[in-house]
Amino acid sequence: MTAAVDVKLVEVGPRDGLQNEARALPVPVRVALIDKLTAAGLPVIEAGSFVSPKWVPKMADTASVLRGITRAPGVSYPVLTPNLRGFEDAVAAGATEVAIFGAASETFSRRNINCSIEESFARFAPVCEAAGAQGIKVRGYISCALGCPYEGAVDVGAVAEVAARLLRLGCYEISLGDTIGVGTPNKARAMLDAVASVMPLGRLAAHFHDTYGQAVANIFAVLERGVTVLDTSVAGLGGCPYAAGAAGNVATEDVVYLLEGLGLRTGVEMQRLLDASEYVMSELGRRTVSKASLALSHKRSAA
Ligand code: HMG
Ligand code: MG
Repeated sequence: MTAAVDVKLVEVGPRDGLQNEARALPVPVRVALIDKLTAAGLPVIEAGSFVSPKWVPKMADTASVLRGITRAPGVSYPVLTPNLRGFEDAVAAGATEVAIFGAASETFSRRNINCSIEESFARFAPVCEAAGAQGIKVRGYISCALGCPYEGAVDVGAVAEVAARLLRLGCYEISLGDTIGVGTPNKARAMLDAVASVMPLGRLAAHFHDTYGQAVANIFAVLERGVTVLDTSVAGLGGCPYAAGAAGNVATEDVVYLLEGLGLRTGVEMQRLLDASEYVMSELGRRTVSKASLALSHKRSAA
């Protein structure tokens, strides 16, 4: 990424999106998708996960994906690593950035990574230590920041506490995940304010799923508060394997359209993003949920 941007987009479609699609995509298609997203100008593209393939089969072979992609200078390709085993496998496959993922809800933590919140930090600590020693950047995620599929409402204090712990472990950025997409703008602002009271706002990213169609509104609300890092998923791919009924992340196309309308630069080229979006939807054999993508693809096919 060379041009100045106002908002950094973290493209999570090849991981958060594809992990929960009905159709498993083969390695060459996952590689081609990431290459198209690179060509579109995304500065960060999550390439997959080093987790148990029994738990999340769609992310199997992430090592081959990492080896297959063509990296662009300045672009980061992080992968999820829940434990030291995942971290070591990721580094062996060429990862230069990883992400650890905790939760603000005890039940979700157990369902997602098979351990308590406390135990999860015992697994994250050696990952962060090894990463620090090898100069590898670590991003932190907090799931259920606005609600849990098992416990319902989540206390904003619990989100702030997990965020502060991730920061102390050495995460350079912490993504606040509305895993099940239940948030609304006022709730998103209140949660953000609680977390920003214990750490710098500039280290926070917003990660909204679009289950109730509120993701773009929530993004607008946190942008107004000063957030400049947003997680998005091309074509609105995905959902969450441990949150039945949850929709995918907010679509990258919808967010780029919003940000362009606000005069905020992302460095992403919409037509190339559409190429990536149309490609992955044809491979998945279904229609995109992105409104901007539908409208713009229609416009360009009519041109
Ligand atoms: P565990 O059962 O507690 O760990 O799983 P274990 O050490 O007892 O190992 C169990 C099995 O997993 C063994 O294999 C290990 O070898 C294997 P078996 O003997 O049964 O054949 N294993 C691994 N395999 C590959 N890579 C590894 C690894 N570690 C152990 N790193 C574990 C713990 C975390 C591995 C498991 O629970 C798991 O894989 N969970 C999947 C978690 C996941 O990927 N969830 C989705 C991503 S999170 C998300 O989407 C939310 C987010 O987007 C934010 C938001 O939306 O809010 C980030
Ligand atoms: Mg997610």
